[in-house]
Amino acid sequence: MRKTTGYLLHPSIPLDSGSSELKIADIGTGTGVWLLELAEELPSSYQLHGFDVSSAGFSDQSWLPDNVSFRALNAFEPPPKELWGQYDIVHIRLFVMVIEEDPIPVIDHCMKLLKPGGHLQWDELNLSDLEIVKSKPDVSTESLQRMVDNAKTHSSQKWVPQLPTTLTQSGFDKPTVSYHKPPPCYRKMWMEADTVATESLAANVADANGPLGPSEALKALAKGCHKETQQGAAIVKMYQVVTARKPL
Ligand SMILES: C[S@@+](CC[C@H](N)C(=O)[O-])C[C@H]1O[C@@H](n2cnc3c(N)ncnc32)[C@H](O)[C@@H]1O
Repeated sequence: MRKTTGYLLHPSIPLDSGSSELKIADIGTGTGVWLLELAEELPSSYQLHGFDVSSAGFSDQSWLPDNVSFRALNAFEPPPKELWGQYDIVHIRLFVMVIEEDPIPVIDHCMKLLKPGGHLQWDELNLSDLEIVKSKPDVSTESLQRMVDNAKTHSSQKWVPQLPTTLTQSGFDKPTVSYHKPPPCYRKMWMEADTVATESLAANVADANGPLGPSEALKALAKGCHKETQQGAAIVKMYQVVTARKPL
C-alpha cells in the first residue's frame, strides 16, 4: 500500500512527541505487516502494539523486534481499561469487509485508546470508485464488470466515504482525507492478490443467501476475472486515507 500512497504514516502525523516513548496501536493488524514495516523506520524506544480479534496472523514474540508485540482484541468491544489513553497514534487498515454498516463502535474504541491530542489514521478501500482499465482495446471485461457491480451493491461500502464526517460527529477534530490510486505498474499485482482473496472468500465465506452469493458462482467469477486480467484488463481501486485528532 505504501507504493500507492507514498507513506505508511500520513505526513501530517508528527512522529516526534517530544518524548522517547511514542506508542502506536494497529487495530485489526492481521500479520502486523504495516506495524513491522513502520518499526524499521522508528527508534527502537517507540512501542508498537498490534491488535486483532484473531491471533492466527501473529508471529511468535521470539521472531519480533523487542518493541513490537501483538495481543487479541475485538474492535467492536470496549478495550480493556489499562489501554485507555495510552496511544499517540492509532491506525486501522482495510476494515471494509469487517464493518457491515456502522463504524461508530470502532471509532469510539479508537478514541478510548488515544491520548488527548493523539492521532487516528484509517486507511481504507473506497469501493464507490472502481474503474475498469484495459491495456488493449479488444479485451473482454464482462467478469470484471460483474465484480465491480457486486462490490458497489454490497452494503459495507457506504460508511467508507462518510468516514471523515462520522469521525467529526464522534468527537474527533480536524479530519483530513487523501485519495490514492496505485500506479499502473502495480495493477496486475493487485489483481493477482484480489484473485487469491476472492478464491478464499468463495471457499470460506460465500453462501447462497449472503451478499457474496453461492461459493461456486463466486469461484467462477474469480476465474473469469483472472482470465481477463491475464489478457490485459484490471480493476483500479481507490484508497482513502483519513486522519483525525482526539481533542486535547
Ligand atoms: C483485511 S485484513 C487487514 C489486515 C491488516 N490491517 C492489513 O492491512 O494488512 C482484516 C483484519 O481484521 C481483523 N478483524 C476482523 N474482525 C475484527 C474485530 N472485530 N476486531 C479486530 N480485528 C478484526 C481480521 O482478523 C483481519 O486480520
